Amino acid sequence: MNDTMKAVVLTRFGGADAFELRDVSVPQVGPRQVRVRVHATAVNPLDYQIRRGDYEDHVLLPAITGHDISGVIEEVGSHVTEFVVGDAVYYTPQIFGGAGSYAEQHVADVDLVGRKPKNLSHLEAASLTLVGGTVWEALVTRAQLSVGETILVQGGTGGVGTIAIQVAKAIGARVITTARDADHDFVRSLGADAVIDYTSTDYVAAVAEITQGEGVDVVLDTIGCDTLTRSPLTLADGGRVVTIVDIAEPQNLIEAWGKNASYHFVFTRQNRGKLDALTTLVERGLVKPVVGAILPLARIGEAHELLENRRSYALHGKVVIDVAGQSVALPVCRELGDETALTHDSHEEGTKS
Ligand SMILES: NC(=O)c1ccc[n+]([C@@H]2O[C@H](COP(=O)([O-])OP(=O)(O)OC[C@H]3O[C@@H](n4cnc5c(N)ncnc54)[C@H](OP(=O)(O)O)[C@@H]3O)[C@@H](O)[C@H]2O)c1
Repeated sequence: MNDTMKAVVLTRFGGADAFELRDVSVPQVGPRQVRVRVHATAVNPLDYQIRRGDYEDHVLLPAITGHDISGVIEEVGSHVTEFVVGDAVYYTPQIFGGAGSYAEQHVADVDLVGRKPKNLSHLEAASLTLVGGTVWEALVTRAQLSVGETILVQGGTGGVGTIAIQVAKAIGARVITTARDADHDFVRSLGADAVIDYTSTDYVAAVAEITQGEGVDVVLDTIGCDTLTRSPLTLADGGRVVTIVDIAEPQNLIEAWGKNASYHFVFTRQNRGKLDALTTLVERGLVKPVVGAILPLARIGEAHELLENRRSYALHGKVVIDVAGQSVALPVCRELGDETALTHDSHEEGTKS
């Protein structure tokens, strides 16, 4: 085994140029840990929030950040019985708890690690771990969405929204989502039953019209702003609001009282159980990853800029990082139109190991 590896290191809080590609030591494996050769990782809003210093009290610099991994186990600790060397796995590293995923290798507590779905490439699997775990926690564990209920998924084109639509449909719910007009066919292709153009339409009025005044049973808030105040206006009696956004502004909850509403605040916790449940849905073809862009590890700064400025691009789903290869696939720039359409170089597509 080589003692060093390439890793993208956050050297200071700031812009996308705050990263440096460095040679660093490969971490040691503890008794209940595994060392994984990282094939792919992904970018989440949490990653650029950390990079710019939103969580500076929780991150000691220099730091390796990143919260999604798909790869292959190269070493198991002395007390690991669940996996063997060569197993393909996917997981989210402990958030605010040690080294992240922007590196060629990663050591994780075995309880966080799930078997990679057999029908996905590493690039696809890496797109799922953080958002998939979050959706499972929000819809299944917390909101307990059930067959025949109606859910409003805010932000249907995003990393979380694309998976939330599919999981809600797999549960048997009716899905209303928000997306700009140009993306309506896309979110319908994921299973959305009704779509509201958030750039031109007030979602409270639109939900009332779509549900003929009945309201929705669950709102999944991926946006923030005044959601705590306004979501109850869309709810049926006894409805639930699940927010995954850290909303700092105080809000008036009086409308929730009249609806007997419940609020759930989710900051996702990692564990294998949620991933195993997701794997079942993926292997049955009920949930498909949505990869909207791919860049290699050395271009992590560009990947951050892409997600941070997603309004400028026709970006659907996740920005994924090819750690083991050099794949590049970029979304169309909205201002420039079709001529800059997705470009593919040495794409990993078809590799399912
Ligand atoms: N608490 C947790 O555990 C947890 C876990 C994961 C994510 N999060 C948070 O959840 C949020 C979403 O994450 P993500 O990964 O889905 O982000 P993302 O991939 O960047 O997607 C953002 C989505 O929001 C949409 N959007 C932006 N402004 C909107 C508006 N005013 N109304 C409706 N939709 C709007 C975007 O639409 P366009 O495509 O039109 O731009 C896009 O669909 C982030 O704040 C993230 O930090 C929290």
